[in-house]
Amino acid sequence: MKEQIQTANGKLGILLPGLGAVATTLIAGVEAVKKNIAQPIGALTQMGSIRLGKRTENRYPLIKDFVPLAALDNIVFGGWDVYSDNVYEAAMKAKVLEPSLLQAIKPELEAIVPMKAVFDKSYIKNLDGQHIKQAATKYELASALMDDIENFREANDCNRIVIVWCGSTEKYIEESEVHQTIELFEEGLKNNDPAISPSMIYAYAAIRLGVPFANGAPNLTCDIPALIELAKETATPIGGKDFKTGQTLMKTILAPGLHARALGIRGWFSTNILGNRDGLVLDDPDNFKTKEVSKLSVLEDILQPDINPELYGDLYHKVRINYYPPHGDNKESWDNIDIFGWLGYSMQIKINFLCRDSILAAPIVLDLALFMDLAKRANMTGIQEWLSFYFKSPQTAPGLRPEHDIFKQLIKLQNTLRHIMGEDLITHLGLDYYQDLVEAL
Ligand SMILES: NC(=O)c1ccc[n+]([C@@H]2O[C@H](COP(=O)([O-])OP(=O)(O)OC[C@H]3O[C@@H](n4cnc5c(N)ncnc54)[C@H](O)[C@@H]3O)[C@@H](O)[C@H]2O)c1
Repeated sequence: MKEQIQTANGKLGILLPGLGAVATTLIAGVEAVKKNIAQPIGALTQMGSIRLGKRTENRYPLIKDFVPLAALDNIVFGGWDVYSDNVYEAAMKAKVLEPSLLQAIKPELEAIVPMKAVFDKSYIKNLDGQHIKQAATKYELASALMDDIENFREANDCNRIVIVWCGSTEKYIEESEVHQTIELFEEGLKNNDPAISPSMIYAYAAIRLGVPFANGAPNLTCDIPALIELAKETATPIGGKDFKTGQTLMKTILAPGLHARALGIRGWFSTNILGNRDGLVLDDPDNFKTKEVSKLSVLEDILQPDINPELYGDLYHKVRINYYPPHGDNKESWDNIDIFGWLGYSMQIKINFLCRDSILAAPIVLDLALFMDLAKRANMTGIQEWLSFYFKSPQTAPGLRPEHDIFKQLIKLQNTLRHIMGEDLITHLGLDYYQDLVEAL
C-alpha cells in the first residue's frame, strides 16, 4: 500500500465553511507556527510520535516524519461565512488569541476573505449575517459552491483541496426519505426540500468533486445514506461528527479508566458555561438538541450497560450547556460523577475544567485536514473510522457501534498509519520477544 500513496507535493487548500472562533484560531495558529512564533501543541500530525516495531527496537519517529503529510508551508486557507469579516477581523472578534499575536500575522489573516455562504435561517435562528448566496434552488447553490472550490483551487494553484465544516451547529433533524439515495437527494436539491440543510449542500458539493469532507459539528451533514453512497462513487474520504474537545474529551479519557477497573457509576452530571457565538447558537433549544444527542451517546457506548447491568444499568447521565457571555470562549465546565466500588460503597469525583474551547479544537481541525488529505492520496474512500479519535459522535458504517474510548481510538489511528506504511501492527502482546529478553538476562 505504501508504494501506492501519492506524494504530498504542491499546495493543499484547506477550505472551511464557518470562519468563526475555531477556524480563525486554526488559521492564525498555523501562520504563527510558520513564522516560528508559536508551537502547534495538541496536533498529533505536528508533535505526536508513533512507536514502530518491537519495544526493544526504540523506534519512535514523529508521525509527520513517518507518513507523507502536507507541510504547513504548503497550506493555503480559505472559507465561507455569513459575515463578511476577514480572518483578522473575525479572530479579533472571537477574542480567543491575544491581539499582539494576531498583529504579528495581520497581513496573512487580512488576505483571507470569506466567500458568500449558503445559509438558511430556519436551521440557525440566532445568526443574522447577510453575506449569503442567493439562488432559486438548493441545486444552484451546490453548483455555486462547486464553482467556489474550483476557482479557489485555480487562483491558489492548489494540487489538492480538503474541507472541514467549522460552521455553527444546525437545528436537530432526523434522517428522512430525501436523505436515502443520491437520486432522491439531487431531486430534493432541485425541489428545495426543507430537510436538506446548508451543511449538507456543502458536503454534497465537496463529495461530488471528490474533495475530502470532515464535519466538526454534530449536524447530520454527510452522515446520511445518500452522501455515503456518493462518497463511494466519487472515491472521497468523509468523516464526522463534532470535534471532541472539553468536557467530552475528559469523559472519554476518564470513563474507560473507571470501566477498566470495573468500578460502577450511578450518575454523571455535566454542565458548563460558554459565552462565544457557538454558545449563542446553542442557546436555541433546537440547536442544543443536536449537540445534546451527540454528547449523550458517549458514556453508553464506553460503559455498555447491557453487558454490565450491575455496574452501569442505572446510570443517570445529564448534559447541560448554558450561554454566559462574560466567559467568551473560555468555557468552564463542572462534572459530578457518582461512582461506587467494593461492596457498593459510594464515592464522588468532581471535575472543574477551565478550558479554552477553540484552543482545543484548532489542532483537531489541522490533524483532520492533513489526515483526510493523506486518506485521499492513499485511496482510502468513504467513512474514515480511524479518525474517530477526533470526534464526539464518530460516523461509522450503518449499523456499526461507534468506538468512543479515546485509547482504543488512538490504537486504531496509529495502527492504520502503520498499516498504510507497511509496518507491523502493534498488539501490545509482546510475548514473542519478552521471553527472549527474560532468558537473555
Ligand atoms: N470549539 C469547540 O471546542 C468545538 C467542539 C466541538 C464542536 N464545535 C463546533 O464547531 C463549530 C464552530 O465552532 P466555533 O466556536 O468556531 O463557532 P463560531 O460561532 O465562532 O463560528 C461558526 C461560524 O460559522 C458561521 N456559519 C454558520 N452557518 C454557516 C453556513 N451555513 N455557511 C458558512 N458559515 C456559517 C457563523 O457565522 C460563524 O462565524 C460549531 O458547530 C461548534 O459546535 C466546536
